Amino acid sequence: MVFLQEVTEHGYPLFTMKLKKLFEKAVQYGIDADPRGRKAVEKLLKKVKEKSAKMEGSEKELFDMERTWNPFPDSRIIAGTGEEDVKVLLVGIDIETPEVLLADRLREKGERIDALMLHHPEGRALADLEKAMGLQVEVLGLAGVPMNQSEDMLRPRMERVWRAVHADNLFRTERVAELLGFPAFNTHTPADHQVWSFMEKNICKKEYDDLGEVLTAILAIPEYKHFALKGNPPILANGGKSSRPGRIVATEFTGGTNGPEEFIEAQMRAGVGTILSMHVTEKTLEEAKKHHVNMIQCSHMASDTLGMNLLLDLLSKDEKGLRTIDIAGFIRIKHSK
Ligand SMILES: [Fe+2]
Ligand SMILES: [Fe+2]
Repeated sequence: MVFLQEVTEHGYPLFTMKLKKLFEKAVQYGIDADPRGRKAVEKLLKKVKEKSAKMEGSEKELFDMERTWNPFPDSRIIAGTGEEDVKVLLVGIDIETPEVLLADRLREKGERIDALMLHHPEGRALADLEKAMGLQVEVLGLAGVPMNQSEDMLRPRMERVWRAVHADNLFRTERVAELLGFPAFNTHTPADHQVWSFMEKNICKKEYDDLGEVLTAILAIPEYKHFALKGNPPILANGGKSSRPGRIVATEFTGGTNGPEEFIEAQMRAGVGTILSMHVTEKTLEEAKKHHVNMIQCSHMASDTLGMNLLLDLLSKDEKGLRTIDIAGFIRIKHSK
């Protein structure tokens, strides 16, 4: 039996989702997994909306209207109108000029690519990275750190990130995507929220005799196994295989970028024994040693890949025909059937 499918003049299936819709859905899935909780996020958005309605003159002109509905300043559509049909995504953890040229080469060879999906922010999403860091206070709050303390510790670090990113050449990727005709968007915090909540639920909440058992549990997750087989396994940055884990938290998975080193002592005082991290900086490691906190560096790329896969699993439920071409550190592994 032959099933006839309605197609466009180019042979693409009709009723494909628009990029704008797909991105809006990604934002909603991010809110569902947000450590602040959906209610608090919606309250925050309402306040921004009310404030923006009262703006006038240059304040109104410079205001980013995206902030009235998208609570993730480090994630947005960076090229295109949002009206493009999307079914085939070129997905990468880092997509910059070389990867956009690769996309163009693949298209030249006949591959269909509807849009570029980045994890790490570029363009305005990168310019506003520091504005995504505030939610680290909630992540630490759930780990038992009083919010007034972490907020005070976070402020100088946010200012440093703001000044550093401010000096970057921020708009290269979006320009090359525009010139080569690729719509592009990134999902940073919405994907990092997925991996944070996944690790909290599937790793942190379980019982272990020692850190060796924690490593084994992490390695049972397909993304970590995939990267381990390629020589990029989760490692014990501080602590040994026979060390007792104590209370385990995944506080270094979401919140824009690394928080201040002072967070280690604050977590130790809150009774944390082991911190799972995507990437442990040398300064953080020094603090972990000083305060006897175990640290597991879970592989940055495996962790970001897991977050993107969990988000793509959700998006695939809405857009059944969603297909990815995997580049730049990303590998598509489906978790839900
Ligand atoms: Fe990430
Ligand atoms: Fe990352």
